[in-house]
Amino acid sequence: MSTRNKILGILLLSAVLSGAAFAQTMPAKYGFGAPVTEQELSKYFSIPADGRGLPPGSGNATAGAKVYAENCAACHGDKLEGNPAKGIGGDKLIGGRGSLATKTPVKTVESYWPYATTLFDYVKRAMPFSSPGTLKDDEIYAVVAYILSEAKIIKPTDTMDATSLPKVMMPNRDGFIPDARPELDLYR
Ligand code: HEC
Repeated sequence: MSTRNKILGILLLSAVLSGAAFAQTMPAKYGFGAPVTEQELSKYFSIPADGRGLPPGSGNATAGAKVYAENCAACHGDKLEGNPAKGIGGDKLIGGRGSLATKTPVKTVESYWPYATTLFDYVKRAMPFSSPGTLKDDEIYAVVAYILSEAKIIKPTDTMDATSLPKVMMPNRDGFIPDARPELDLYR
């Protein structure tokens, strides 16, 4: 064995030994930190397409119109038509149904989104843009009902909750097709 390799060997051995010594002296507790609370954990959620994990509560379009006027219209427009202002202007939320495959596609919740449950998830997570997390679950169900009702996907009298929302059939539900990607077989 060359001198260089011997030195490397010794260095490695001492690194392993000092690691083992550290493991032996490591305390079971460090004396800082606190267990995470249910309230803190509630900020971390993800509602999948089938609606698993949707919270209790409910709302309809009448209540939602009020929530929308107070919390969304400034950016998304009085008629959900969107606001072209640069920066903070919100997207158009309804319309464009059937336009995606044309030369002038209009991408909105109504024309593009395949699952209504995603609307709840997104609004709860990210909207209002300037103060996400401030709406109560009842208000979110209500504003979701309002958007879906204005898009004529549900009736104005329908109530949205953890049971009814996953059953809503979005117009573009079947617009997503599996992409076969045959070129990937080259790497299998
Ligand atoms: C301060 C301006 C502002 C307010 C208020 C606001 N939004 Fe938005 N919203 C935006 C912006 C900007 C985007 C685009 C965000 C992005 O692409 O990351 C957006 C995106 C969205 C989208 C996604 C649209 C799409 O097709 O991708 C939905 C749905 C939405 N907002 C709903 C709401 C609802 C419901 C409210 C009221 C509870 C609300 N927003 C309040 C600015 C706002």
